[in-house]
Amino acid sequence: MANVLITGGAGYVGSVVAGAFLGAGHTVTVLDSLESGGQGLLGYVANPRFRFERGDVRDARRVRAAVRGQDAIVHLAAVVGFGACNADPHRAETVNVGGTHALLAAREPGQLLLYASTGSVYGAVPAGLCHEGLDPAPLSLYGRTKLKAERMVLDSGNATAFRFATAFGVSPRMRVDLLINEFVYSAKRRGFVVVYDREARRTFIHVRDMARAFLFGLERFSSMNGEVYNAGSDRLNLTKDEIAQLILRRHHYFLTYGPAGADEDRRDYAVSYEKLSALGFDTQVTIEEGIDELLRAVDLLHHRGPFGEP
Ligand SMILES: NC(=O)c1ccc[n+]([C@@H]2O[C@H](COP(=O)([O-])OP(=O)(O)OC[C@H]3O[C@@H](n4cnc5c(N)ncnc54)[C@H](O)[C@@H]3O)[C@@H](O)[C@H]2O)c1
Repeated sequence: MANVLITGGAGYVGSVVAGAFLGAGHTVTVLDSLESGGQGLLGYVANPRFRFERGDVRDARRVRAAVRGQDAIVHLAAVVGFGACNADPHRAETVNVGGTHALLAAREPGQLLLYASTGSVYGAVPAGLCHEGLDPAPLSLYGRTKLKAERMVLDSGNATAFRFATAFGVSPRMRVDLLINEFVYSAKRRGFVVVYDREARRTFIHVRDMARAFLFGLERFSSMNGEVYNAGSDRLNLTKDEIAQLILRRHHYFLTYGPAGADEDRRDYAVSYEKLSALGFDTQVTIEEGIDELLRAVDLLHHRGPFGEP
Protein backbone atom coordinates (compact mmCIF):
# COMPACT_ATOMS: atom_id res chain seq x y z
CA MET A 1 0.00 0.00 0.00
CA ALA A 2 1.22 3.47 -0.85
CA ASN A 3 1.36 6.89 0.79
CA VAL A 4 -0.44 9.18 -1.63
CA LEU A 5 -0.67 12.97 -1.68
CA ILE A 6 -3.70 14.41 -3.48
CA THR A 7 -3.44 18.12 -4.29
CA GLY A 8 -6.85 19.72 -4.77
CA GLY A 9 -8.31 16.68 -3.04
CA ALA A 10 -11.22 18.60 -1.50
CA GLY A 11 -12.74 19.38 -4.91
CA TYR A 12 -15.38 17.65 -7.02
CA VAL A 13 -12.99 15.06 -8.45
CA GLY A 14 -10.57 14.98 -5.51
CA SER A 15 -13.11 14.08 -2.85
CA VAL A 16 -14.08 11.00 -4.90
CA VAL A 17 -10.42 10.15 -5.63
CA ALA A 18 -9.57 10.41 -1.92
CA GLY A 19 -12.37 7.95 -1.05
CA ALA A 20 -11.29 5.52 -3.77
CA PHE A 21 -7.64 5.51 -2.64
CA LEU A 22 -8.65 5.04 1.01
CA GLY A 23 -10.98 2.24 -0.07
CA ALA A 24 -8.10 0.55 -1.89
CA GLY A 25 -6.07 0.58 1.35
CA HIS A 26 -3.72 3.49 0.63
CA THR A 27 -2.76 6.24 3.09
CA VAL A 28 -4.03 9.58 1.81
CA THR A 29 -2.93 13.15 2.49
CA VAL A 30 -4.95 15.94 0.90
CA LEU A 31 -3.38 19.36 0.32
CA ASP A 32 -6.03 21.92 -0.58
CA SER A 33 -6.65 25.62 -0.04
CA LEU A 34 -10.41 24.93 0.31
CA GLU A 35 -11.58 27.40 -2.35
CA SER A 36 -15.03 25.85 -2.16
CA GLY A 37 -14.99 24.32 1.27
CA GLY A 38 -13.98 21.03 2.80
CA GLN A 39 -17.33 19.25 3.19
CA GLY A 40 -16.39 16.73 0.51
CA LEU A 41 -13.82 15.21 2.85
CA LEU A 42 -15.91 14.99 6.05
CA GLY A 43 -16.72 11.34 5.38
CA TYR A 44 -13.03 10.42 5.64
CA VAL A 45 -11.84 12.19 8.79
CA ALA A 46 -12.53 9.17 11.01
CA ASN A 47 -10.19 7.04 8.91
CA PRO A 48 -6.74 6.85 10.55
CA ARG A 49 -5.17 6.58 7.07
CA PHE A 50 -6.52 10.03 6.12
CA ARG A 51 -4.80 13.37 6.76
CA PHE A 52 -5.71 16.87 5.62
CA GLU A 53 -3.30 19.80 5.17
CA ARG A 54 -4.77 23.18 4.41
CA GLY A 55 -2.40 25.03 2.09
CA ASP A 56 -1.79 26.62 -1.25
CA VAL A 57 -0.04 24.59 -3.91
CA ARG A 58 1.92 27.75 -4.80
CA ASP A 59 3.42 27.90 -1.30
CA ALA A 60 6.80 26.12 -1.59
CA ARG A 61 7.13 25.53 2.16
CA ARG A 62 3.65 23.95 2.53
CA VAL A 63 4.19 21.84 -0.56
CA ARG A 64 7.59 20.58 0.65
CA ALA A 65 6.02 19.54 3.96
CA ALA A 66 3.12 17.80 2.20
CA VAL A 67 5.25 15.76 -0.24
CA ARG A 68 7.58 14.47 2.48
CA GLY A 69 7.39 10.67 2.75
CA GLN A 70 4.87 10.21 -0.08
CA ASP A 71 5.20 7.42 -2.64
CA ALA A 72 2.90 9.01 -5.20
CA ILE A 73 1.21 12.32 -5.94
CA VAL A 74 -2.12 12.86 -7.69
CA HIS A 75 -2.05 16.47 -8.86
CA LEU A 76 -5.54 17.97 -9.18
CA ALA A 77 -5.24 21.45 -7.62
CA ALA A 78 -6.18 23.97 -10.29
CA VAL A 79 -8.43 26.80 -11.33
CA VAL A 80 -10.84 24.69 -13.38
CA GLY A 81 -12.76 25.58 -16.55
CA PHE A 82 -12.48 28.51 -18.98
CA GLY A 83 -14.97 30.65 -17.02
CA ALA A 84 -13.08 30.44 -13.72
CA CYS A 85 -9.74 31.03 -15.48
CA ASN A 86 -11.01 34.09 -17.37
CA ALA A 87 -12.47 35.51 -14.17
CA ASP A 88 -8.98 35.66 -12.65
CA PRO A 89 -6.27 35.07 -15.27
CA HIS A 90 -3.42 35.82 -12.85
CA ARG A 91 -4.67 33.19 -10.42
CA ALA A 92 -5.20 30.70 -13.26
CA GLU A 93 -1.61 31.11 -14.43
CA THR A 94 -0.03 31.10 -10.97
CA VAL A 95 -2.05 28.11 -9.68
CA ASN A 96 -2.21 25.93 -12.80
CA VAL A 97 1.36 26.56 -13.95
CA GLY A 98 3.13 28.07 -10.92
CA GLY A 99 1.55 25.56 -8.52
CA THR A 100 2.69 22.68 -10.71
CA HIS A 101 6.18 24.19 -10.79
CA ALA A 102 6.25 24.41 -6.98
CA LEU A 103 5.12 20.78 -6.72
CA LEU A 104 7.79 19.59 -9.16
CA ALA A 105 10.47 21.56 -7.32
CA ALA A 106 9.44 19.98 -4.01
CA ARG A 107 9.05 16.43 -5.32
CA GLU A 108 11.46 13.92 -3.82
CA PRO A 109 13.33 11.44 -6.03
CA GLY A 110 11.32 8.33 -6.83
CA GLN A 111 7.89 9.86 -6.14
CA LEU A 112 5.42 9.02 -8.92
CA LEU A 113 3.23 11.77 -10.32
CA LEU A 114 -0.23 11.31 -11.84
CA TYR A 115 -1.53 14.50 -13.44
CA ALA A 116 -5.14 15.46 -14.23
CA SER A 117 -4.97 17.07 -17.65
CA THR A 118 -8.01 17.75 -19.80
CA GLY A 119 -9.44 17.31 -23.30
CA SER A 120 -9.58 21.12 -23.38
CA VAL A 121 -5.88 21.11 -24.34
CA TYR A 122 -6.85 19.98 -27.88
CA GLY A 123 -8.79 23.09 -28.91
CA ALA A 124 -10.95 22.88 -32.04
CA VAL A 125 -10.27 19.49 -33.61
CA PRO A 126 -10.74 19.09 -37.36
CA ALA A 127 -13.06 16.34 -38.61
CA GLY A 128 -12.23 12.89 -37.35
CA LEU A 129 -11.17 11.38 -34.10
CA CYS A 130 -9.20 13.19 -31.48
CA HIS A 131 -6.21 11.13 -30.34
CA GLU A 132 -3.02 11.70 -28.36
CA GLY A 133 -0.91 12.02 -31.54
CA LEU A 134 -2.60 15.30 -32.50
CA ASP A 135 -0.74 18.49 -31.77
CA PRO A 136 -2.72 20.23 -29.01
CA ALA A 137 -3.76 23.79 -29.86
CA PRO A 138 -5.70 25.03 -26.83
CA LEU A 139 -8.01 27.99 -27.34
CA SER A 140 -8.76 29.03 -23.78
CA LEU A 141 -6.54 30.18 -20.93
CA TYR A 142 -7.70 27.08 -19.07
CA GLY A 143 -6.52 24.78 -21.88
CA ARG A 144 -3.25 26.67 -22.30
CA THR A 145 -2.33 26.60 -18.61
CA LYS A 146 -3.28 22.93 -18.27
CA LEU A 147 -1.15 22.05 -21.33
CA LYS A 148 1.86 24.00 -20.01
CA ALA A 149 1.59 22.13 -16.72
CA GLU A 150 1.10 18.78 -18.48
CA ARG A 151 4.33 19.32 -20.44
CA MET A 152 6.25 20.35 -17.31
CA VAL A 153 4.98 17.26 -15.51
CA LEU A 154 5.95 14.85 -18.30
CA ASP A 155 9.34 16.53 -18.83
CA SER A 156 10.12 16.11 -15.14
CA GLY A 157 10.10 12.30 -15.51
CA ASN A 158 8.40 9.59 -13.45
CA ALA A 159 4.99 10.94 -14.42
CA THR A 160 1.82 10.09 -16.32
CA ALA A 161 -0.90 12.48 -17.50
CA PHE A 162 -4.57 11.74 -18.16
CA ARG A 163 -6.49 14.02 -20.53
CA PHE A 164 -9.90 13.52 -18.99
CA ALA A 165 -13.23 13.92 -20.74
CA THR A 166 -15.84 16.14 -19.03
CA ALA A 167 -16.79 14.61 -15.70
CA PHE A 168 -20.33 13.79 -14.62
CA GLY A 169 -21.97 12.17 -11.62
CA VAL A 170 -22.32 12.64 -7.91
CA SER A 171 -19.46 13.66 -5.63
CA PRO A 172 -19.51 14.63 -1.95
CA ARG A 173 -18.41 18.09 -3.21
CA MET A 174 -20.93 18.56 -6.00
CA ARG A 175 -20.46 20.68 -9.13
CA VAL A 176 -23.53 21.51 -11.17
CA ASP A 177 -21.70 23.53 -13.80
CA LEU A 178 -20.54 20.43 -15.73
CA LEU A 179 -22.66 19.71 -18.79
CA ILE A 180 -24.53 16.54 -17.77
CA ASN A 181 -24.78 17.59 -14.12
CA GLU A 182 -26.08 21.00 -15.19
CA PHE A 183 -28.68 19.60 -17.60
CA VAL A 184 -30.02 17.17 -14.99
CA TYR A 185 -30.02 19.83 -12.28
CA SER A 186 -31.88 22.30 -14.47
CA ALA A 187 -34.37 19.69 -15.75
CA LYS A 188 -35.25 18.55 -12.23
CA ARG A 189 -35.01 21.80 -10.26
CA ARG A 190 -36.27 24.32 -12.82
CA GLY A 191 -38.26 22.10 -15.17
CA PHE A 192 -36.47 23.22 -18.34
CA VAL A 193 -33.13 23.07 -20.14
CA VAL A 194 -31.92 25.44 -22.86
CA VAL A 195 -29.42 23.65 -25.12
CA TYR A 196 -27.15 25.61 -27.40
CA ASP A 197 -24.96 24.01 -30.11
CA ARG A 198 -27.21 20.94 -29.93
CA GLU A 199 -25.18 18.93 -32.46
CA ALA A 200 -21.83 19.59 -30.75
CA ARG A 201 -20.17 16.29 -29.96
CA ARG A 202 -18.84 16.00 -26.43
CA THR A 203 -17.13 13.28 -24.47
CA PHE A 204 -17.70 12.28 -20.85
CA ILE A 205 -16.40 10.22 -17.94
CA HIS A 206 -18.05 9.44 -14.62
CA VAL A 207 -16.18 10.94 -11.68
CA ARG A 208 -15.79 7.46 -10.07
CA ASP A 209 -14.17 6.24 -13.28
CA MET A 210 -11.71 9.15 -13.04
CA ALA A 211 -10.76 7.84 -9.61
CA ARG A 212 -10.41 4.32 -11.07
CA ALA A 213 -8.11 5.71 -13.79
CA PHE A 214 -5.78 7.14 -11.14
CA LEU A 215 -5.76 3.83 -9.24
CA PHE A 216 -5.05 2.04 -12.52
CA GLY A 217 -2.22 4.51 -13.20
CA LEU A 218 -0.66 3.82 -9.82
CA GLU A 219 -0.88 0.04 -10.25
CA ARG A 220 0.37 0.03 -13.84
CA PHE A 221 2.78 2.91 -13.53
CA SER A 222 5.81 1.19 -15.05
CA SER A 223 4.00 0.65 -18.36
CA MET A 224 2.50 4.17 -18.39
CA ASN A 225 5.49 6.23 -17.26
CA GLY A 226 6.17 9.28 -19.45
CA GLU A 227 2.97 8.94 -21.49
CA VAL A 228 -0.22 10.95 -21.87
CA TYR A 229 -3.59 9.18 -22.19
CA ASN A 230 -7.05 10.32 -23.16
CA ALA A 231 -9.23 9.05 -20.33
CA GLY A 232 -12.87 8.25 -21.03
CA SER A 233 -14.72 5.76 -23.21
CA ASP A 234 -15.60 5.52 -26.90
CA ARG A 235 -19.16 4.69 -25.71
CA LEU A 236 -19.38 8.05 -23.94
CA ASN A 237 -18.99 10.27 -27.02
CA LEU A 238 -22.43 11.92 -27.46
CA THR A 239 -23.96 15.12 -28.80
CA LYS A 240 -25.47 17.58 -26.38
CA ASP A 241 -28.89 16.83 -27.83
CA GLU A 242 -28.42 13.09 -27.22
CA ILE A 243 -27.72 13.86 -23.55
CA ALA A 244 -30.83 16.04 -23.33
CA GLN A 245 -32.93 13.24 -24.91
CA LEU A 246 -31.55 10.62 -22.51
CA ILE A 247 -32.61 12.80 -19.59
CA LEU A 248 -36.03 13.36 -21.18
CA ARG A 249 -36.60 9.60 -21.28
CA ARG A 250 -36.20 9.49 -17.51
CA HIS A 251 -37.66 12.78 -16.35
CA HIS A 252 -40.22 15.03 -18.00
CA TYR A 253 -39.03 18.60 -18.58
CA PHE A 254 -39.27 21.36 -21.17
CA LEU A 255 -36.40 21.05 -23.66
CA THR A 256 -35.66 24.08 -25.76
CA TYR A 257 -32.83 25.08 -28.07
CA GLY A 258 -31.01 28.40 -27.85
CA PRO A 259 -28.81 30.34 -30.24
CA ALA A 260 -25.16 29.39 -30.66
CA GLY A 261 -23.47 29.54 -27.31
CA ALA A 262 -20.13 30.25 -25.86
CA ASP A 263 -17.91 27.22 -25.40
CA GLU A 264 -14.55 28.93 -25.57
CA ASP A 265 -12.78 25.58 -25.90
CA ARG A 266 -14.96 24.84 -28.99
CA ARG A 267 -15.32 21.23 -27.92
CA ASP A 268 -17.05 19.48 -30.79
CA TYR A 269 -15.33 16.20 -31.47
CA ALA A 270 -15.29 12.53 -30.67
CA VAL A 271 -12.27 11.26 -28.75
CA SER A 272 -10.41 7.99 -29.15
CA TYR A 273 -9.63 6.13 -25.94
CA GLU A 274 -7.79 3.33 -27.70
CA LYS A 275 -4.39 4.02 -26.12
CA LEU A 276 -5.59 3.62 -22.52
CA SER A 277 -8.01 0.80 -23.30
CA ALA A 278 -5.17 -1.15 -24.97
CA LEU A 279 -3.61 -1.33 -21.48
CA GLY A 280 -6.83 -2.81 -20.08
CA PHE A 281 -8.64 0.23 -18.70
CA ASP A 282 -12.33 0.68 -19.38
CA THR A 283 -14.93 2.87 -17.73
CA GLN A 284 -17.75 1.24 -15.75
CA VAL A 285 -20.47 3.84 -15.22
CA THR A 286 -22.78 4.59 -18.15
CA ILE A 287 -24.33 7.97 -18.93
CA GLU A 288 -27.76 6.49 -18.11
CA GLU A 289 -26.62 5.32 -14.67
CA GLY A 290 -25.05 8.72 -14.06
CA ILE A 291 -28.27 10.53 -15.03
CA ASP A 292 -30.35 8.29 -12.74
CA GLU A 293 -28.00 8.94 -9.83
CA LEU A 294 -28.00 12.69 -10.52
CA LEU A 295 -31.81 12.81 -10.69
CA ARG A 296 -31.90 11.28 -7.22
CA ALA A 297 -29.18 13.62 -5.92
CA VAL A 298 -30.74 16.93 -7.03
CA ASP A 299 -33.27 16.86 -4.18
CA LEU A 300 -30.37 16.73 -1.70
CA LEU A 301 -28.54 19.77 -3.04
CA HIS A 302 -28.82 23.14 -1.35
CA HIS A 303 -27.08 24.79 -4.22
CA ARG A 304 -28.23 28.19 -5.38
CA GLY A 305 -28.98 28.04 -9.07
CA PRO A 306 -28.05 30.72 -11.57
CA PHE A 307 -31.45 32.38 -10.94
CA GLY A 308 -30.83 32.50 -7.21
CA GLU A 309 -33.31 29.76 -6.38
CA PRO A 310 -32.41 27.71 -3.31
N1 LIG B 1 -14.28 18.21 -13.67
C1 LIG B 1 -13.94 17.89 -14.92
O1 LIG B 1 -14.78 17.69 -15.81
C2 LIG B 1 -12.48 17.74 -15.28
C3 LIG B 1 -12.15 17.25 -16.56
C4 LIG B 1 -10.82 17.15 -16.92
C5 LIG B 1 -9.83 17.49 -16.00
N2 LIG B 1 -10.17 17.95 -14.78
C6 LIG B 1 -9.09 18.32 -13.84
O2 LIG B 1 -9.32 17.66 -12.61
C7 LIG B 1 -8.87 18.50 -11.53
C8 LIG B 1 -9.97 18.67 -10.50
O3 LIG B 1 -11.12 19.29 -11.09
P1 LIG B 1 -12.47 19.48 -10.26
O4 LIG B 1 -13.60 19.36 -11.22
O5 LIG B 1 -12.45 18.60 -9.06
O6 LIG B 1 -12.36 21.02 -9.82
P2 LIG B 1 -12.69 21.67 -8.39
O7 LIG B 1 -12.65 23.15 -8.61
O8 LIG B 1 -13.90 21.06 -7.80
O9 LIG B 1 -11.45 21.24 -7.51
C9 LIG B 1 -10.21 21.93 -7.52
C10 LIG B 1 -9.65 21.88 -6.11
O10 LIG B 1 -8.38 22.54 -6.15
C11 LIG B 1 -8.29 23.37 -5.01
N3 LIG B 1 -7.37 24.47 -5.29
C12 LIG B 1 -7.56 25.50 -6.16
N4 LIG B 1 -6.52 26.34 -6.09
C13 LIG B 1 -5.66 25.82 -5.18
C14 LIG B 1 -4.41 26.23 -4.68
N5 LIG B 1 -3.83 27.37 -5.10
N6 LIG B 1 -3.79 25.45 -3.76
C15 LIG B 1 -4.39 24.32 -3.31
N7 LIG B 1 -5.58 23.87 -3.75
C16 LIG B 1 -6.21 24.63 -4.68
C17 LIG B 1 -9.70 23.88 -4.75
O11 LIG B 1 -9.85 24.31 -3.40
C18 LIG B 1 -10.53 22.65 -5.09
O12 LIG B 1 -10.74 21.84 -3.94
C19 LIG B 1 -8.38 19.79 -12.18
O13 LIG B 1 -6.98 19.73 -12.32
C20 LIG B 1 -9.05 19.81 -13.53
O14 LIG B 1 -8.31 20.54 -14.49
C21 LIG B 1 -11.48 18.09 -14.38
